[in-house]
Amino acid sequence: MVDSLRFDNRVVIITGAGSGLGKAYALEFGKRGAKVVANDLGVSRNGEGHSSRVADIIVQEIQKLGGIAVANYDSVENGDRIVKTAIENFGRVDIVINNAGILRDSSILKMKDADWDIIMSIHLKGAFTVIKAAWKYMKQQKFGRIINTSSGSGIYGNFGQANYGAAKMGLHGMTLSLAKEGEKNNIRINSITPVAASRMTEDLLAPEILNIVTPEKIVPLVVYLCHESCNDTGGLYEACGGLITRVRWQRSPGIFFSGQFSAEDVQARWREINSFETTRLGNPDYPTSTTDTLKKVLYLIQETAKPKL
Ligand code: NAI
Repeated sequence: MVDSLRFDNRVVIITGAGSGLGKAYALEFGKRGAKVVANDLGVSRNGEGHSSRVADIIVQEIQKLGGIAVANYDSVENGDRIVKTAIENFGRVDIVINNAGILRDSSILKMKDADWDIIMSIHLKGAFTVIKAAWKYMKQQKFGRIINTSSGSGIYGNFGQANYGAAKMGLHGMTLSLAKEGEKNNIRINSITPVAASRMTEDLLAPEILNIVTPEKIVPLVVYLCHESCNDTGGLYEACGGLITRVRWQRSPGIFFSGQFSAEDVQARWREINSFETTRLGNPDYPTSTTDTLKKVLYLIQETAKPKL
């Protein structure tokens, strides 16, 4: 099949490009004509040590396949240096894939402050610093595509990952706000929650599952989201073993108190508040802004004020 989604003259920054998902993205973007900035600090799964070899190897692999790539060895916490590599070597930056990450799992009472801080610093601050440095170029050229890598741990929760889950959900929060900020300058940003075989999951998933959930099955979603033909923004996409879905907020019809109400009233109506069934207040809906919520309240106030026949 012909690769019609090309990235010639596009510059893509991929953080954590040296292994797992990042490596799979880097190879594919290289094949599709993009100039790749392969960033990797070369750390262990829990963020220790560092090595330039990891980024160098992926650059060599891309070049061997006829692609164009340059290595960057900075931590994502210094996103401006990664963007500088893109500008110095290729003169622009079109796409940022925030993918670098580590784990520091432990249950809450055992979690050290340092384990909380490093996860926030690498996942959240890292994505922020790369995006911030790239944004001005994207704004000037009126084109940008950004991927933030969230996680099932963020959107559903996972035992022992309060730090990681908070950062991963935070990344989607960042996506939602920046989708609104980027709209008028053609800067599109989406979050993904992948499940893929890598050193992060090799001891968590059964071998037969690892064979199914290859990183290559996440790549097509990321490639499409980063292409100029995709204009969707602010989305949260799950990808796992060939399944690709979109996840969104659903709000129950709830209840509306028009006058004074107490905690006891809330207790009495708790089942209805939690129900996603259609009620006389309407269907469950899919809000995308606080304005939606305010509109609903104003509508309900008006309805309640109407004289009853
Ligand atoms: P991986 O451990 O194979 O790759 C992560 C890469 O990031 C490594 O090469 C590492 O050296 C690099 N890195 C770590 N800290 C860095 C830093 N400060 N600066 C630059 N590079 C750094 O992991 P995998 O599985 O490929 O994960 C990629 C992303 O996907 C991560 O953000 C992870 O949290 C996320 N994710 C992965 C899932 C999976 O099933 N594999 C599930 C959900 C999310």
